[in-house]
Amino acid sequence: MVKVTVPATSANLGPGFDTLGVALELRNVIEMEETGILDVVIEVDQQHEALLRPESNMVYQAALRVFDRLGYQPHGLRISEQVAIPVARGMGSSAAAIVGGLVAANALVEQMTGRPGLDREELLRMAVAIEGHPDNVTPAMVGGFTVSCMDEVRGPLHVRFDPPRALRAVVVMPELPITGKKTEKSRGVLPTEVSLKDAVYNLNRTALLVAALAQGRVDLLGVATQDRLHQPYRASLVPGLRAVFEAALDAGAKGVALSGAGPSVIAFVEPGHAEPVARAMEGAFAWAGSDARSLMLGLAAEGARLVTGPSVAPDRAPYWG
Ligand code: HSE
Repeated sequence: MVKVTVPATSANLGPGFDTLGVALELRNVIEMEETGILDVVIEVDQQHEALLRPESNMVYQAALRVFDRLGYQPHGLRISEQVAIPVARGMGSSAAAIVGGLVAANALVEQMTGRPGLDREELLRMAVAIEGHPDNVTPAMVGGFTVSCMDEVRGPLHVRFDPPRALRAVVVMPELPITGKKTEKSRGVLPTEVSLKDAVYNLNRTALLVAALAQGRVDLLGVATQDRLHQPYRASLVPGLRAVFEAALDAGAKGVALSGAGPSVIAFVEPGHAEPVARAMEGAFAWAGSDARSLMLGLAAEGARLVTGPSVAPDRAPYWG
């Protein structure tokens, strides 16, 4: 049996559409084992019907890709999931399922065969291919802040760096109805072309954000999380979004952004400032007619992590570190 934990993630961070991401200290736990009985059993600690069906369970679907790639046929499979990451809220729940499924299946094959499986880069390439964009799966796999790039020749590339020590996240989730294909809908409202002025605006902010995070310049995050490529358009899907941003900054947040495709909003705060920022953002959502709940989270330096299972040979760097 293998056990993997995988973190929630927030993508875009404002201006870095499909590029920037960060791992958050909120983890799903996935156990996977061969049962010896030719059947697939999926246990989930929450009643998400879609998660219980093998054909729509992304952990299982991702695991099948690893088995296929390694030419391995498990004799019966039990997958058990503890789902802490809210589903379809913009916190990387699908990325966590994909990365968790890939890492767990890879470790299971290693455990059962005693042979090395796929390396981290290969698992990440597979995760990007399944998810379609790299900005959630990359921090879910490697942790920290990540800058991702899709190159036509080399495929997905990334650079990871540790989060500044004195930074926490407040994620506020409005209770908007969960619709199927949420990310698709949220991408559907985006324009196909933007002005050079808006492109340059985002270029400035994205570069500033990466440099500011790398050097711990949290004073720059207010400007560096501004965006003109996706948030202004997605505001139509999240009532009160602008007011929530203003409330967060007024209450002391250092920066604020729509989390991934939304509807959650992530604010970056210094230690000790999370509570008032959370209350202010919840209040702004309430003013706009939505109940909202908050999570106050650390930023996760570690991505997907194998908790038990095959011992990693000392001369092989573990791929989850
Ligand atoms: N970069 C993606 C988007 C993240 O904004 O659509 C959501 O999965």
